[in-house]
Amino acid sequence: MTARPHPEAGLRALVGDGSMVPCVDGHDRPYLNLDAAASTSALPVVVRAVEDFLPCYASVHRGAGHKSQQSTRAYEAARAAALGFAGRSPGGGDVAIICRNTTEAINHLAYRLRLAADDVVVTTVVEHHANLLPWGRLCRRRFVECGSDGTFGVEEVAAAVDAGPRPRLLAVTGASNVTGWQPPIDDIVRAAHERDVPVLVDAAQLAAHRPLPADADFVAWSGHKMYAPFGAGVLVGPTAAFADGDPFLAGGGAVDLVDLDEVAWTDPPDREEAGSPNVIGAVALHAAIDELGRIGWDAIIDHDTRLQRRLRAGLVAIPGVNVLGPDTGGGATLPLVTFAVTGVPHALVAARLSAEHGIGVRHGCFCAHPYLVRLLGLGPDEIARHWDAVRHGDHRDMPGAIRASAGLSTSIDDIDRLVSAVADIASGRPTPVAYHQDPRTGDFHPEDGSTAPAGGGRAVGASCARG
Ligand code: ALA
Repeated sequence: MTARPHPEAGLRALVGDGSMVPCVDGHDRPYLNLDAAASTSALPVVVRAVEDFLPCYASVHRGAGHKSQQSTRAYEAARAAALGFAGRSPGGGDVAIICRNTTEAINHLAYRLRLAADDVVVTTVVEHHANLLPWGRLCRRRFVECGSDGTFGVEEVAAAVDAGPRPRLLAVTGASNVTGWQPPIDDIVRAAHERDVPVLVDAAQLAAHRPLPADADFVAWSGHKMYAPFGAGVLVGPTAAFADGDPFLAGGGAVDLVDLDEVAWTDPPDREEAGSPNVIGAVALHAAIDELGRIGWDAIIDHDTRLQRRLRAGLVAIPGVNVLGPDTGGGATLPLVTFAVTGVPHALVAARLSAEHGIGVRHGCFCAHPYLVRLLGLGPDEIARHWDAVRHGDHRDMPGAIRASAGLSTSIDDIDRLVSAVADIASGRPTPVAYHQDPRTGDFHPEDGSTAPAGGGRAVGASCARG
């Protein structure tokens, strides 16, 4: 993959914009990344912050040397920035725990809540797996259902909270990674608090697009979805929730004193961050937070809304394209659209967008299988057939759809390029090359291997649809 300057950019250019990728017609095209909902490219200021910091890189919290002190200062400054980003003030009783990502943050919280097997957590069928599975293995879950458009209202959430037994927590997304829909999160948090039930907001998708809900008790998000792909995520919550009991991870840095049969855990946040902290990730996250602050939410929301409207309207207008999820008019939806093309498997659409057009999207179930099943309207027989096939290692006919998701560097021209590529595929024009489907993954690849990354090839193309 070679790089050349991007001809035009959106709100901010990102590292790697305009990289040239090979296509099946023998031409290279500028790569168009429309998979921001999975991972965003780095902001240039993030990379500069990391490069500037690297000469000072040293151990955090455990060295008397000058660089250790600089690293510790940078790490703690990032923690303070994360707290501020979540709408918390320093000394206000909340703590920011720096971890790997949203999935780890929610697993961390699930462990720390000391859930008993018959405790209940209320969550929703809209969640991605990170906000479903950690609860399911520790306690009972009660679900808020969605309608056929993939949404629910605050009344349904209140009813699920009210149904006995009383839940320990409401765990709800701030925005869907599948439809971009934003539940009325402030009203939901208020309704739960009126019932004395604490709330976790999974802000994995929300964080790069909207202010975090300041009234939620716990908030989790990831750096890699907000232009800081260096392995840091955050769990914010009341310090008191982490004051007692053993931490999620046990090890050095989390303790005051250790004997062979005894341990005195230290105070949070260090108690919750055993092992050497990811100071590079924290520095990157801090730089991204600062840059989003410089751009400002008004500009981001305006940019998102324009992209969302163009994307949805463009795809809806294509014969044979079925867009999933609600039409909220743009403003209440993140800049992403999930869709299916009649008669063309989702995996083939994604493969063709890549191999013929140089466009990267995600396809499959987006780590949100229960939600996709509902949006696609699959019946019990169909679902049973898919379970049977997967249990036999056959992924050829996995349910799913295609998702195009935009970010800070996406322009209206980029959206138009995607829409015209989808229209081309939906038109029924024969594929310019033969595609082979790998039954183990369900993914399609051009037969001639012409677009495979150097040193890659079919065997390492782990299922794009895995979730
Ligand atoms: N939740 C991530 C996505 O939507 C992985 O792609």
